[in-house]
Parts: sequence; C-alpha cells; structure tokens
Amino acid sequence: MANLGTEVVSVINKLQDVFTAVGSSANSIDLPQICVLGSQSSGKSSVLENIVGRDFLPRGTGIVTRRPLVLQLINRPATAQTNGTSSDGDKAANADEWGEFLHLPGEKFYDFNKIRAEIVRDTEAKTGKNAGISPLPINLRIFSPNVLTLTLVDLPGLTKVPVGDQPRDIEKQIREMLLKYISKPSCIILAVTAANTDLANSDGLKLAREVDPEGTRTIGVLTKVDLMDAGTDVVDILAGRVIPLRLGYVPVVNRGQRDIEANKPIQAALEYERQFFENHPSYKGKAQYCGTPFLARKLNMILMHHIRATLPDIKARISSQLSKYNAELQSLGGPTGDGNSGNIVLSVITEFTSEFRSSIDGNTNDLSLNE
Ligand code: GDP
Ligand code: NA
Ligand code: MG
Repeated sequence: MANLGTEVVSVINKLQDVFTAVGSSANSIDLPQICVLGSQSSGKSSVLENIVGRDFLPRGTGIVTRRPLVLQLINRPATAQTNGTSSDGDKAANADEWGEFLHLPGEKFYDFNKIRAEIVRDTEAKTGKNAGISPLPINLRIFSPNVLTLTLVDLPGLTKVPVGDQPRDIEKQIREMLLKYISKPSCIILAVTAANTDLANSDGLKLAREVDPEGTRTIGVLTKVDLMDAGTDVVDILAGRVIPLRLGYVPVVNRGQRDIEANKPIQAALEYERQFFENHPSYKGKAQYCGTPFLARKLNMILMHHIRATLPDIKARISSQLSKYNAELQSLGGPTGDGNSGNIVLSVITEFTSEFRSSIDGNTNDLSLNE
C-alpha cells in the first residue's frame, strides 16, 4: 500500500521541480498536493510532522509558520548496511533519511534539527523576525524509508488581529495567500480544527467550503482530542451529524506544548496517540479509524484517486504549454521546432498515465474512503 503511490508521485515531484526551476510557468500547471488549512495554533504543523514521522517543523504557541513550506516526502527503501539503525527509536542521524532544500542545491541534511534551524533561518531572512508573513514558499524534500510518498504544504494559519510588524490587513493577506493554494482543484485540503473549539466556528472549514463546496477534496482533521473536557468527545462529528464532510474526519492527538519543550520523541507521541484512542471509551470501537497512521493511509489513497482524475488535465496543460514554448523558440530563431524534447516529455507522461491507471485499477478497494 505504502509503495503503491511511490512511483507516480515521484514522477509528479520531478515535474514539480522542473516547473519550479522554470519559474513563473510553475503556477500554470497544478500538480496534486495536500495543504493544511486552519486557525493559528490549531495544530497544522504538528499534524504534518506526525505524518512525516520526524521532528523538523517549527511548531509552538503563536505565529510560528510564516511562509508556505512545500514538503515533498519521498519513500525510499533502506539500504542494506544501515537497515535497522533506527529500530531502537534513537534520534541519531540515520543514513537513510535526509532532507534537501531547493534553495541549497546539493546539500543533504541528515540532522533534522538542522532542517528546522534552516527553515527558521530562511523564514527570518525573507520575512524579518517580527511576525512578518511572506507568500514566498520554502521547498524541502525529505527522503526516507519511513514515509508515504506525498507532497504536503504547511501554511501560515488564519489570523484576525495584526501583531508585530504585520500590516493592518494581515487577515486579508493571509486569506489571499491560502486561497492561492487551496483554490486549485488539484489541492487536497486538510481542514484542521482543534477539537476543544467549536466546529461551527472553524475558520479552516469555512474557507475550505468556499473553494470546495461539494467537499470532494476536503478532509477534516480534529486535533487536541486529548484536551477536550471530560465526558465530551468527537463521536457526533465523526458520524457526520455536526458538519458532514464527504471525505470524513480523522481525530488525532499530537504533542502538547510541554511535550515539545521536553523534546518528547515522535515515536513516543505516536504510541501515546495509539493508546489514547484504543483505551478511550468513546473511540475504542473505532480506533482503527483514528489517529495519524489512518490519516496518512487515507491521504495516500485519496491522493492517488485524485492524481488519476486530474492526469488528463495535467497532460493537456503541459501539451499546450509545450507548444507555446516551441512557438516562442521559433520566433526567437532558436532550435527549429521539431518539437522533439516536447514530444519526449509528452510520451513519458502518456506512458505513465496508462501505467498508473492499470496499477490503481486493481487496488481501489484497499481502504474505504468513507467509513
Ligand atoms: P499551527 O500553528 O496550526 O501550526 O499549530 P502547531 O502545530 O504549531 O501547534 C500549536 C500548539 O498546539 C503547540 O503548542 C502544540 O504543542 C499544541 N498542539 C497541537 N496539537 C495538539 C494536540 O493534539 N494535543 C495537544 N495537547 N496539544 C497540541
Ligand atoms: Na503555531
Ligand atoms: Mg504552523
């Protein structure tokens, strides 16, 4: 299951890099990706970090995520020599897991604390230290045997009141930045809401509904289930009796602020989450539909369906962009437009589309999308 999507998404990741490198045309082709959307401090970065299974995202109370982070997770099997080095759960660098930033080509980060430090450094370099926000994304790839192949985008949270150096219209600016990502039909939205707040007031769900009224690409994520008042639970929400979502909700338990300060290892946090749902009277009957592992599996499956549905469109757009390029090249007296390189790209995509379709056709029933 984890490997089913690996090949297709790695091709997509390569395409994404190509388009980013090409520059402005990057935005005219919308490759599938998953974005987190929600209020500030609802737990968006924590959710992403748990999906990745490594500590590397700046998190915390207040406005921590101040630029979009485009995160490509690439599943890569462990090599023989280093196989098993992480089985004791230590945080030591593992030769099989590393990160690379697009703005630092060729530099491999094996120490995930250094990845976090670089995110903070580059955020401050482009936005200043005083709560400034920038739409300029940071591009990071994580290679690991322990992730599902997915492209995720961590986004600044919806906020209402300007702080620090933020402009007075910060709410509008952030909304516009988020809309740029989530309006794309190819974006799968993780609408994050803290379970100890009122779902009806969820800024993330409201904005998601504006761009995806049918709910065909919005998954609800309920964080902080551990912080709910005793005797209350999210069972009615999960059952679709509050604000129904076609793709449903997944409840999760991330590390709290004190866990972050105490450097609680992620494996311990995931184990705590598992036990929380398995032992909780409200959730123990449906624990397999709760928590981060279920969210990751559900995401991978939805992503694959989504890629399948959007491939013909991607192909058509690439094709039209290529003919535009060729025409431009010709008008500049460049290489005569035999269209060769364009044709190669197109045939690769065509081949990959049909391979992908046949590989997914037999595998769509692994995981029910609507429990
Ligand atoms: P973001 O601003 O939406 O990215 O939220 P963060 O991931 O930075 O988290 C904000 C704060 O909420 C941090 O102090 C986290 O420790 C805390 N937090 C997030 N999710 C949970 C959760 O499920 N349970 C608990 N107890 N705390 C959480
Ligand atoms: Na935060
Ligand atoms: Mg954040």
